Amino acid sequence: IVDVQDKIDHELISHDQIVKRINEVAAQASKDYAGKKPLVICVLKGAIQTLSRFVSALTIPMEMDFMSLSTYGAGTSSSGKITVRADLTTDVKDRDVLIVEDIVDSGFTLNWLVGELKKRGAKSVEIFALLEKPARHTVDVKLKYTGFVIPDEFVVGFGLDFDEEYRNLNSIAVLKPEVYEGEIS
Ligand code: PRP
Ligand code: MN
Ligand code: MG
Repeated sequence: IVDVQDKIDHELISHDQIVKRINEVAAQASKDYAGKKPLVICVLKGAIQTLSRFVSALTIPMEMDFMSLSTYGAGTSSSGKITVRADLTTDVKDRDVLIVEDIVDSGFTLNWLVGELKKRGAKSVEIFALLEKPARHTVDVKLKYTGFVIPDEFVVGFGLDFDEEYRNLNSIAVLKPEVYEGEIS
């Protein structure tokens, strides 16, 4: 394969739509977190592109840190078991934490992370998720900011992968059905 675009069936959200929405959320968060110096946490790997755009549009003092969490493995459905691949290097005690995530699917990842950060003594824990897929929610997760609510389709791009590929797409897209054929889930 020469170009990742060759594997795309259709685009769901364009790059311009994504950037516009992230900028809107960043403007709102800059008001909501004025004077609080939030600790913005990027949930790697999926949230990398959203985090990057989001923090560059924030206009207030902030800090950032990274946590690498995994629940999917190689398939297209969540396993429900969270693996910490890399932890934060910042003490979250008494901090106003804003988690940036690419997608809420079953909700297991964020449900676990919110509990973990509260256990570590964070003063507040809120979430910005670029995508929300209500059809798949099995545990309750309250989002402070939502980018887009999407239908129950497996999407890739703008950080989201299928079997570690397609994170570099600059839009959110659905892959051609043959890409998923023979997947291990
Ligand atoms: C994906 C996605 C979210 C999570 C959402 O991450 O980026 O973090 O799953 O699913 P959930 O709501 O069912 O928990 P993944 O485990 O694929 O790791 P990755 O970010 O490195 O791709
Ligand atoms: Mn992820
Ligand atoms: Mg993944």
